[in-house]
Amino acid sequence: MTDEQYYEFVQSYEDAKQMLLTRLDVLNHNLYEPYDYRPIHNIQDRIKKKKSIEEKLKKKEKEATVDNAKDYLQDIAGVRVICYYVDDIYNLVDILKGQADLIVIRESDYIAAPKANGYRSYHLIVGVPVYCLDGMEYFPVEVQFRTMSMDFWASMEHRICYKKKREDKALLTEELREYANMLAKIEKRFEQYNEVGKLAGD
Ligand code: GTP
Ligand code: MG
Repeated sequence: MTDEQYYEFVQSYEDAKQMLLTRLDVLNHNLYEPYDYRPIHNIQDRIKKKKSIEEKLKKKEKEATVDNAKDYLQDIAGVRVICYYVDDIYNLVDILKGQADLIVIRESDYIAAPKANGYRSYHLIVGVPVYCLDGMEYFPVEVQFRTMSMDFWASMEHRICYKKKREDKALLTEELREYANMLAKIEKRFEQYNEVGKLAGD
């Protein structure tokens, strides 16, 4: 894949991501109307780098071409939505899934069912319509919904464990799982102050 091919290829993903960011921004303003309360603390977004695309395709034993990237990768465009409360996440996901022009490609609720290592997050891969001269096509955007404490844990875990071979793996895994449980408990205690999000969910 040449640099030119890469930049041309990711343009539609960039467009899809931009549209989703706008949707999320609107929801952040009006989800809990008439209350002056916003569910989103912050949003991060990224387009997968050329090198990461090539590495991921190689891991999947596919040739590093744009056609394969399109066929086998659904996280070229990624958006991470950091919320205050778990209820905010479910409320946002519900509304987003209800928007008629978006399609749900994949959904994993790692909040209801955390990964064995303690990872929690709500993953939603949505197909976003992108219009060009010869019609419309859906492009996938991977959206990860997290609370601040889920994001704290995942960022630390990523930093400590990612692509590293460690001697003390078993002990570290156990320690991180314990931290995940502690953070989930703290998060639950904060829930007592969440009045608006609960109301909206009922
Ligand atoms: P990938 O090949 O990594 O995309 O995995 P997948 O297609 O099976 O999807 P999954 O939903 O499991 O993970 C997608 C993304 O979620 C990853 O690229 C990470 O950003 C994040 N993620 C998943 N599991 C973990 C984890 O254990 N720790 C951290 N820090 N992030 C995770
Ligand atoms: Mg992925």
